This record gives sequence, structure tokens and C-alpha cells, in this order.
Amino acid sequence: MIIGVPREIKQDENRVALVPSGVEALVADGHTVLVQRQAGAGSGFAEDTYVAAGATVVAEAAAVWEQAEMIMKVKEPIEPEWPMMCAGQVIFTYFHFAASEALTRAVVDSGAVAVAYETVQLPSGELPLLTPMSEVAGRMAVQEGAKYLEAVSGGLGVLLGGVPGVMPANVLILGGGVVGTNAAKMAAGLGANVTLLDLSLDRLRYLSDVMPANVTLLHSNRHTILEELARAQLVIGAVLLPGAKAPKLVRREDLAVMTEGSVIVDVAVDQGGCVETARPTTHEAPTYVVDGVIHYAVANMPSGVPRTSTLALTNATCPYARRLAGRGWRTACREDSALFQGLNIIEGAVVYPGVAEAFSMELVDPNELV
Ligand SMILES: NC(=O)c1ccc[n+]([C@@H]2O[C@H](COP(=O)([O-])OP(=O)(O)OC[C@H]3O[C@@H](n4cnc5c(N)ncnc54)[C@H](O)[C@@H]3O)[C@@H](O)[C@H]2O)c1
Repeated sequence: MIIGVPREIKQDENRVALVPSGVEALVADGHTVLVQRQAGAGSGFAEDTYVAAGATVVAEAAAVWEQAEMIMKVKEPIEPEWPMMCAGQVIFTYFHFAASEALTRAVVDSGAVAVAYETVQLPSGELPLLTPMSEVAGRMAVQEGAKYLEAVSGGLGVLLGGVPGVMPANVLILGGGVVGTNAAKMAAGLGANVTLLDLSLDRLRYLSDVMPANVTLLHSNRHTILEELARAQLVIGAVLLPGAKAPKLVRREDLAVMTEGSVIVDVAVDQGGCVETARPTTHEAPTYVVDGVIHYAVANMPSGVPRTSTLALTNATCPYARRLAGRGWRTACREDSALFQGLNIIEGAVVYPGVAEAFSMELVDPNELV
């Protein structure tokens, strides 16, 4: 099969869908891999490393799209890419269709087969191609929080871990899933006093077995949230209600109990945020202040550390890409229920319930088409 990797053109997107080791694996499987010039540059992968791995470097995106039977990307195709999508072509990337009717209709009209990273789902319910980005964002949340607590950033001037003789900072984490657990590990490792809140007692029991002693695990409720907000210098929002907007656990009036110069990092901002005063920001202008509290709410945190994010993402996507390329999408999806769940649009038909519902479009049973 011919596999194409165009350079990402969405603003601020520095990741790439395939690293040289992935090219090497696909070429060893007998495939041809076309990589657009400079595709890996934003993640620190030079063109000659792709060539050494067996890729063919192509100058123009149009040539990649035209020749490839499967396109691998990171972000959803954006408008300039829509005319290049081809009928029958497999596109394997993050789509987040429910967020854009125009994108959904463009992919339907193209006749392409859209396999969405975000809906590839294991029988356990885990989303293996979203997990690595949550790991990155959770770890990064602590790094960013620590930075904005510094006086030069307008923060309290507090070191997360303190020093012998001086109290460490209190870090409050709302939600103990992938983001929250990774944030807790990082903050605890730096020596902070960490409090993590979750609704699930089973999750809290599990975390109590694996977290170090400086992480306190509490059941999430309004009373505890207010009590802990008053003590925290850094608050990290990491809740998720699958398929729904994040619940507003911190209201505007609650900021009054927080110390001026403390920091909120709302990682859940991509689902609307779990802090009422959080609104999406960018890497260029990541923070703003409300009632003396610094808010960091970058909606695409992983693209701030593209090298790590690219490696983490491709470690997870590459085995699925090899299956899609090796078996063909129909057989691969029949044989692998996780990949089957990734099917969102098949040659003009919407086959993923959430996408059809979002735009009142006809839902076709994927079993009829696979
Ligand atoms: N900003 C970014 O760049 C970025 C990157 C990755 C993930 N995210 C977002 O981060 C959020 C968390 O992702 P995740 O992978 O950790 O999800 P997850 O499903 O692994 O964890 C969510 C946790 O929230 C808990 N929860 C739900 N309601 C709660 C409540 N009222 N109080 C306390 N806990 C509650 C759940 O029990 C669960 O443990 C999501 O919105 C995700 O989209 C953002």
C-alpha cells in the first residue's frame, strides 16, 4: 500500500503522524511511504532520517494526497486539505467530527474512509489513541503551573516542592483519570502536598495503592472542593464526563477563597472546562487573570511539546496503522474491534452514532459496509 504523511498545516500544530522508526516498520512490511518535505521538522525529525528509514520525500502536499491509499495525519483535515481527499482513501487521524459539521460534510462528500484516532476503543472502554495525549497534558500541567507560580509570571512566588525548613506548595487536582494521575505523580515527585479528588471510590482505592504518601485522595463534593480551594496554590482541572461538557466544579465566586497569585490550569478546557472562569487560550497567550487568580487554559497543550507528543502518539498509532495497511481497512476493522470503533465515515456514509446525532444525519450500520 502507498501511505502518505502530509505536513500538518493547522496553526500551532508541530506534531507529525509518523516518525522515522514508523516509516522503517511500514517499509519493512512492504509498503511505500511518502512523507511531505518538512513534515517532521516541527518535531525535530530531519528529512534525511526519513530518507534513511526508507521514505520517499515529496515536495507538495497535493502529490502526497493524490498518490496515497492511506493518509496518516495528526489533526483533522482543514479546509485547504478538503479538495485533496479522495474517494476510497483511508484517512487515519484525529477528526473530532462532532465539533464541525462542515468537516463532517466535506469528508462525507469526498467518499473517503475516516478512521478517527479519538474513537478507537478497546473492549475495556479505554481510548488508546487519546491516552498518550492525556499523559502529556497531565504532566505538562504541573510544569506550566510551577512556571506561572513564579513571581516573574505574576504568581505567588512559591516553589512547588519548598525546601528544607519551608513548606511545599499545596496542589489540588480535580479528577483522577489519566490527566489527573499523571499530574499527581509529577507534583508529588517535585515534593508538593498533593490532594486529588475523584467521584469514583474504586478509582480512589486504586490510586491509594499506587500513589506516594504526599498524595491525599478525597471524594469529590462541593464541600471538599471549597475547603481545598482555600488551601491550594495550584489547582489542576482534569475531570471528564465522557461525551458531555465538563461539570463546573469551580464557580466564579469560589475564586474569592483562593490566594491572589495562585494558579489554575484547566486541562479540561477542551470539553468546556471544569472551572467556570476558564476559556480556551493558546500557546502564544496562554494565561489571563480573573479576581487575582492566574488562569492557564491552553486547549491543545501537547502541541507545546511536539517532540514528546509525536513520539507518544506514534508509539500508540503505529501498530494500528500497520494493521490497516497490511490487512486493508475492511479486514483490519473486522479483525480488530478497537479499530472497528474508529470507523466514523465510510465512503459517504456516517457510521458513528455520535456524529450522526450531532448533525441529524442518517446513521448507517458499519457492519453493512465492512
Ligand atoms: N487541554 C489539553 O490539551 C488536553 C489534552 C488531553 C486531555 N485533555 C482533557 O482533559 C480532561 C481529562 O482527560 P482524562 O484523559 O484524564 O479523562 P479520564 O476519563 O481518564 O478521567 C476523568 C476523571 O474525572 C473524574 N470525574 C468525573 N466527574 C468528576 C467530579 N465531579 N469530580 C471529580 N472527578 C470527576 C472521573 O471519575 C475520571 O476519573 C478531558 O476533558 C480531556 O479532553 C485536554
